[in-house]
Amino acid sequence: MVGDISVETGDRVLDVAAGTGSITRRLAAAGAEVVSLDQSYEMLARAVERGAAGIVATAEQLPFADGEFDAVTFGYLLRYVDSVPGAMTEITRVVRPGGRVGMVEFGRPSGIWRPLWWGFTRIILPVAGWMISRPWRDVGSFLGPSIDAFADRWPPPRLAAAWEEAGLIDITVVRMSLGGGLVVTATKP
Ligand SMILES: C[S@@+](CC[C@H](N)C(=O)[O-])C[C@H]1O[C@@H](n2cnc3c(N)ncnc32)[C@H](O)[C@@H]1O
Repeated sequence: MVGDISVETGDRVLDVAAGTGSITRRLAAAGAEVVSLDQSYEMLARAVERGAAGIVATAEQLPFADGEFDAVTFGYLLRYVDSVPGAMTEITRVVRPGGRVGMVEFGRPSGIWRPLWWGFTRIILPVAGWMISRPWRDVGSFLGPSIDAFADRWPPPRLAAAWEEAGLIDITVVRMSLGGGLVVTATKP
């Protein structure tokens, strides 16, 4: 995703839902000046410990002026927002004309891979989590149904339409890892 949005040295990039900063670090390695934003102080604190410039805020109300960033990225965010169109409109607002938007999210494989994916997310992940700790068991049990619910509500064509309605063009949806991953990129005209 970072490669697909063509980050250039010195670009100002906002990483929304940055969490502990895994995307932030890739953007910084590509030469960007990154602002990492997350609603969770605890998650962001880990990113800041590793060198990020962090700000606690929500994707639905970004504390920035229109067109402030050359690009905005977000990973694993849209499953958590109340309104996908609302979040996309707000994200698009803070990108400059000609700027790029990139997202990575879990996807749901189709065909022969679907039952294998189901077994992985419904059995292997919860059991692996259970073997580590109670919080990891909860995460392991949560993820599969969460991905399924998002895939039902926002299949890639509907998601792309929401991006277009938010004002983005050149929307590219790439299914990766046998459909288990989704990378979407676009440009603000
Ligand atoms: C699974 S983590 C992903 C972190 C990071 N993007 C990554 O790829 O490693 C999801 C993050 O989204 C954040 N988040 C969820 N809803 C949010 C919202 N409405 N606004 C900002 N951050 C949000 C959570 O606090 C969490 O840190």
